[in-house]
Amino acid sequence: MGRIRILSDNVANKIAAGEVVERPASVVKELLENALDAGATEIRVDVENAGRRLIRIRDNGMGMLRDDALLAFERHGTSKISDVKDLLSIDTLGFRGEALPSIASVSRLILETRSEDESTGTAVEIAGGKLLRCDEIACPVGTTLTVRDLFFNVPARKKFLRSDGTELAHIGSLMTHYSLGHVDKAFELVHERRELLNVTPVPSIRERAFQVFGSEMMADLIDLESRTFELRLAPPYVPSGARDSGEPPPEPECTKFTLDGLVSGPHVQKVNRNSVFLFVNGRLIRDKVLSHAVQAAYYNLMPPGCFPFALLFLNCDPRELDVNVHPAKTEVRFRHSSVVHDFVRDAVRQRLMESRPVSGMPAPTSPVPVLTSTHNDGEKLPGAALPQRGAELPFSEFSVRMEAAGTESEPSEIGTLLAAINARAEDLPEIQMNTAHPTLLEPSRPAAPMPETSPMAVRAAASRRIPDTHGALDRLPSDWDVPQNLSALPDLRPLGQLHDSFIIATGRDGLWIIDQHVAHERILFEQVLKQRASGTVEIQNLLMPLVLQLTPSQQFEYARIADELNAYGFETEPFGQRTVAVKSAPAGVGPADIEKVIFEIFEISESELRSASLDEVRRDLCATIACRAAIKINTRLETSKVEWLLRSLARCEYPMTCPHGRPIALRYSTRDILKSFHRI
Ligand SMILES: Nc1ncnc2c1ncn2[C@@H]1O[C@H](COP(=O)(O)OP(=O)(O)O)[C@@H](O)[C@H]1O
Ligand SMILES: [Mg+2]
Repeated sequence: MGRIRILSDNVANKIAAGEVVERPASVVKELLENALDAGATEIRVDVENAGRRLIRIRDNGMGMLRDDALLAFERHGTSKISDVKDLLSIDTLGFRGEALPSIASVSRLILETRSEDESTGTAVEIAGGKLLRCDEIACPVGTTLTVRDLFFNVPARKKFLRSDGTELAHIGSLMTHYSLGHVDKAFELVHERRELLNVTPVPSIRERAFQVFGSEMMADLIDLESRTFELRLAPPYVPSGARDSGEPPPEPECTKFTLDGLVSGPHVQKVNRNSVFLFVNGRLIRDKVLSHAVQAAYYNLMPPGCFPFALLFLNCDPRELDVNVHPAKTEVRFRHSSVVHDFVRDAVRQRLMESRPVSGMPAPTSPVPVLTSTHNDGEKLPGAALPQRGAELPFSEFSVRMEAAGTESEPSEIGTLLAAINARAEDLPEIQMNTAHPTLLEPSRPAAPMPETSPMAVRAAASRRIPDTHGALDRLPSDWDVPQNLSALPDLRPLGQLHDSFIIATGRDGLWIIDQHVAHERILFEQVLKQRASGTVEIQNLLMPLVLQLTPSQQFEYARIADELNAYGFETEPFGQRTVAVKSAPAGVGPADIEKVIFEIFEISESELRSASLDEVRRDLCATIACRAAIKINTRLETSKVEWLLRSLARCEYPMTCPHGRPIALRYSTRDILKSFHRI
């Protein structure tokens, strides 16, 4: 007796309806999900003509019984749920029983499958929804689905397909995501006999991410190291009269959430959310609650409007989720969404705080020394910043080819994924320095290799290392290659300042550059925040009250935030019409800056704080005060002051970025220095 049943109308009507076969990648998605649901550990996908001519997916899962092979093509034929209550705790990726019939109706399809329980397999052939044959065949346990000529009978849908590059990028992106979400399985993607992705099972997400992104990108990612959260649920209500007198009241139930994955340090700043990948119980989803939680974790660590790279895996009891929201199953609803939101936000923030990542200098991507580099047209070859070391990564090859093949400007998600890691603080406001000379130590944009240089050629050049006759490296301390984080700050040896603005220091792990203004800003920000919380803000009384003229809207803002200003040491009082007198200010803010600080606060208050929480208002006030009171650039510092700055910064809770999200320190690692000098 087969496993597949046709859902009753009652259940079928409760399933989120809608078309799911839009493009080749949506076919691959549905078939991949089926393979995973069938318990496959090895999945291979072959495509031709970006999936238009052929998509073949082979898995070593449980296969189908003969009786099921035809039922699988009936609408609402599924082995995964049977009644309405199953919809409340779905633990498989599929459940709608609609994918196979939908795909079969718009292509020429062959199913070959065998279950372990039967000695022979079954082949079913369907074209445009019509059954052509159903035969007994010899085949291994598992399932192979071959989908040819997608949309051959619906030209309208065919017309909406994009270029081969784009369609293939969607397939590649999807396979990559699923391979990240299921690290214990092997995935292979081959396009016209060229291998685009090939990953073997590994024990952790870190190792899978390494297979996919390579070691260099991993350096920017922080492992969340599996965080858990237990939510105690109220016990089901039983009226006391209904209980036996000796029976104890029912215990509250517990439900557990676990979060795993990788997030970037605050120095990786993206302009949109495209680099935030969320998996809930192995399913890749889009979700506002989780996206917001990720953004909130970086609050005050990144400029507003910037986003990190994140690959998050949340696992929970299926009863905590409703996945029956969207036909493509890409959205979920959480039963306890605010609990999930806060758990994710706090877990990510906590890890950021613990790991204190430091921004690396953009390492030269071209192994050719600057002198012999004949061009720098500013165009970056996609994938050129991919790992050049160690084994060849088919995925990196893939991304390069993908981008090269794409004739449209639509960025592939894969490109986004890779670029996410490469992006640095390039989008940040520039600091004006009064120096005419470009300097040796200024982090420069990586010199791009010639567009016609193939990545293979770049690799070959990298490996052409001149034998080392210039002094052996064995004098380096044994731990030179252990990357240091910002806890190393007090141990750095300051060498001086660059343009009286950036502190240059050496550490065990390379050369450090610290932006003195933003470093001090972070120190003051945390100090003022603490003082504000304990009501001990240091203030200075002004000899002469400062009289400020307000516009009507500033007058309105003033009325709203006067108490808060006061709590920060700005003692003010109304002084005639639309005029206020300031009698004191926070200790660090110089007299010339007081007026500017107050007007800046009005400005923030007007533009963004209407909807902000009091906590956010306070943080923004602190940030403004800290910025005004901090040591400016173009200021010479005594060594003792530099040492004090480094020590105080190390004591900060978040020494990575200033409250506006600019990085504080850059490290040019010993490894990168040695590599640039061709010593390793
Ligand atoms: N690769 C596969 N291996 C084993 N069984 C499969 C496979 N693909 C599909 N099936 C069976 O066919 C049924 C219908 O598949 P589908 O139309 O995708 O619906 P759903 O996945 O929502 O159940 C599944 O419930 C499953 O029993
Ligand atoms: Mg399915």
